Amino acid sequence: MHGLDDHKLIKNFSYINGSWHSSASDLDVTNPATGQLVAKVSNAGVEETNLAIAGAKAALKAWSSKSANERAALMRKWFDLMMANQDDLGRLLTLEQGKPLAEAKGEIGYGAAFIEWFAEEGKRVYGDVIPGPSGDKRIVVVKQPVGVVASITPWNFPNAMIARKAAAALAAGCTFVVRPATQTPLSALAMAELAERAGIPAGVFNVVVGNDARGMGEVLTQHPDVAKFTFTGSTGVGKSLISQCASTVKKVSMELGGNAPFIVFDDADLDAAVAGAIASKYRNAGQTCVCTNRIFVQRGVLEEFTTKYIAAVKELQMGDGLIAGVNMGPMISSKAVSDVERLVRDSIDAGATLALGGQRDDAGECFYQATVLTHVTNDMPIAANEIFGPVSPIITFDTEEEVLAQANDTEYGLAAYFYTRDIGRVWRVGEGLDFGMVGVNEGIISNAAAPFGGVKQSGNGREGSKYGLDDYMEIKYLCMGGLDK
Ligand code: SIN
Repeated sequence: MHGLDDHKLIKNFSYINGSWHSSASDLDVTNPATGQLVAKVSNAGVEETNLAIAGAKAALKAWSSKSANERAALMRKWFDLMMANQDDLGRLLTLEQGKPLAEAKGEIGYGAAFIEWFAEEGKRVYGDVIPGPSGDKRIVVVKQPVGVVASITPWNFPNAMIARKAAAALAAGCTFVVRPATQTPLSALAMAELAERAGIPAGVFNVVVGNDARGMGEVLTQHPDVAKFTFTGSTGVGKSLISQCASTVKKVSMELGGNAPFIVFDDADLDAAVAGAIASKYRNAGQTCVCTNRIFVQRGVLEEFTTKYIAAVKELQMGDGLIAGVNMGPMISSKAVSDVERLVRDSIDAGATLALGGQRDDAGECFYQATVLTHVTNDMPIAANEIFGPVSPIITFDTEEEVLAQANDTEYGLAAYFYTRDIGRVWRVGEGLDFGMVGVNEGIISNAAAPFGGVKQSGNGREGSKYGLDDYMEIKYLCMGGLDK
């Protein structure tokens, strides 16, 4: 039914301390493209979350005591298995999440790359020796794993958002518990199956699937044995999870919402800007935190850019992600479509012009047409809110100062993009944008070697890159005294 070569990759139970754990009731996982049932998964809860944390705690000493080389060898096997099963994992991801198959396989490669990258980087966790304040002392700094890491991950990247966190945690010597989104648990459970096949010891990587978001979230954020909590999701949910973590003063890292500006200056290579905007806006049907949210176009190129952009949007093929040629899938749910419909309607009421699309599509209740709005202003609902859907609002500007002020006029600060050929402007605008990541003449910025993360209410901490390990390590200072004879 699912068309996977290896049916054993479809798992229906939570993976806790090295065993597959059934619970009293089940959750339905449905395909957003067709509404059909993909699988039933056992619905775990608070009890199983506590068991997973206990397993992670029990496994911590042995895992953190392994050498970085030993951990890297196991992680490398996990990476190899993910890549060897890329086709099946991609297909499973499309079935439960909806993104086109090529994009889903791309996500598997993207997620696996974090495991490969951090396996290597774990070998380079260096300490420090600092001159002391007197001759009989030395200051020695070592880095140690924080301990048990708990996480909650979203449905928009069912594999990569787990891999990005787990890879850094495991490489640092931590053990890991994840509660994946209930819409997309199958990708997470398939990762657990491959972790087991790779020989990652019981308790090191745990996946607990359940729809008691509040109860399980409270355990993950408040359990005294959890040292660090990490979340990817909306800013609103992130804020309440941060406050829950306060009771046990956990280390937290948060990858939250965005409202990315995409700025096209008069001197830009317009064809490159159109291609970059399409890639950044319509990846995952507009459902990524780094998706372009507002397209600012300088007046001199407004008409030419808009014409070319609309022509490119018309080329997108929307449909079931398993169908060849489809490059834009459904949204995650009918409610997600309704939210986007409301933003578009309210913005048209406020004066925006509908240039393309603008409707739920006949393809199914989770499909919303690729949409372009012109004559948008920065205060309209479609620009002021994170859209999380396939809508491009186009805003006109005149000067660099004006566009910087408008681009920064948001509580979010995750990603931003701009296109220009002026080297001075590259530096001025690059430094002037209040965002954690900036694409300069580039619409796709995510990769394992780069520090992914935001400023302002888009979160804290960095994932990926050499900086990503720091979030999973504590710095310990050893004061070496009594050195005099
Ligand atoms: C996200 O939407 O949070 C992640 C996007 C990415 O990793 O590129």
